[in-house]
Amino acid sequence: MTEPGAEAQLSAGPGAAGPALREFPVFWLRDNCGCAQCRDPRSGQKLFQITDLPADLAIGSEQVTETGGGPAYQVRWLPDGHRSCYTWEWLTAGSAAAEAAGAGRTEDAKQLWTAGYFAQRPLPAAAWTAYTGDDAERLRILDAVARLGFALLHAVPAAAGQVLAVAQTFGFVRETNYGRLFDVRVEQDPSNLAFTSAEISPHTDNPYRDPVPTVQLLHCLAGSAPGGDSGLVDGFAAAAALRAEDPAAFAVLTRTPVPFRFADARAELRADQPLIGLDCRGRIREVRFNNRSAGTLRLPPAETAAFYRAYRSFAALLLRPGLRLEFRLAPGDCLIFDNTRLLHEIGRAHV
Ligand code: FE2
Repeated sequence: MTEPGAEAQLSAGPGAAGPALREFPVFWLRDNCGCAQCRDPRSGQKLFQITDLPADLAIGSEQVTETGGGPAYQVRWLPDGHRSCYTWEWLTAGSAAAEAAGAGRTEDAKQLWTAGYFAQRPLPAAAWTAYTGDDAERLRILDAVARLGFALLHAVPAAAGQVLAVAQTFGFVRETNYGRLFDVRVEQDPSNLAFTSAEISPHTDNPYRDPVPTVQLLHCLAGSAPGGDSGLVDGFAAAAALRAEDPAAFAVLTRTPVPFRFADARAELRADQPLIGLDCRGRIREVRFNNRSAGTLRLPPAETAAFYRAYRSFAALLLRPGLRLEFRLAPGDCLIFDNTRLLHEIGRAHV
């Protein structure tokens, strides 16, 4: 909202030398007027359209007053005479840290990790009874899901459908063509590879869906087969490593739409998205990686060749043992993970 230099000037506070308030863009100030005419006092929602503001909006007069919350500017606007009040505290609240965190979905708001990160510290985990009985414990676990991308709950009652009760502790279940629940098991005549014993490498789920599933829960009801170790890879850390090691490959993967497809007798789903999704500031925000549902690219040969070079490079990087956190799920364990960030491989030789 202001130049860095202007921010330094403003930190002197109102009343100090300098036309501090006039450093702020007028439409920004007026758009953020908090009076009861401009915002619903109960919901805080805006009650006017941006086009309602006069084109020749300007500050008519300003006055510094002392409020209970510290100094504040009283503003009288031209040409309509509207009055606004801005506390100094509110005006200076926009910080670089808040901007960096954004909505909390990008790499800037995350703790990126490799397997070694957990060599010195325990996995984020809690017992189900502690999680449900203690708000601080639940906060600790949900904070881990937000920052690290996953957490484990132990001793969740091993009953069918119990995973829905886990989801209800923090959100709402999104129903899909698979229903509210998806059973991972071996089936005859499978429509999805999760029902077969074919080997599956670390992947994100449902990249053919838009929006993609965000937080997923996997509740282990029965012991996995021999060799059933599970693995997680931090896709943001892997993408950041690719950016550092091979910026050209990273750039290609952020701008090449991959046609992800799924179809069975009841549903046909498609999404054309890059393997590495960035936010509008160029920060890593989403990773989609699933060879099973990647369809056929139809691009000019040079673009296709560049994509395959980058795709193979990223795929090889994702298989590095150092990136992969391994653990074994026991009956009653429930893994909560961010499917927009982590790649998973559950019961490697099993599902
Ligand atoms: Fe999966």
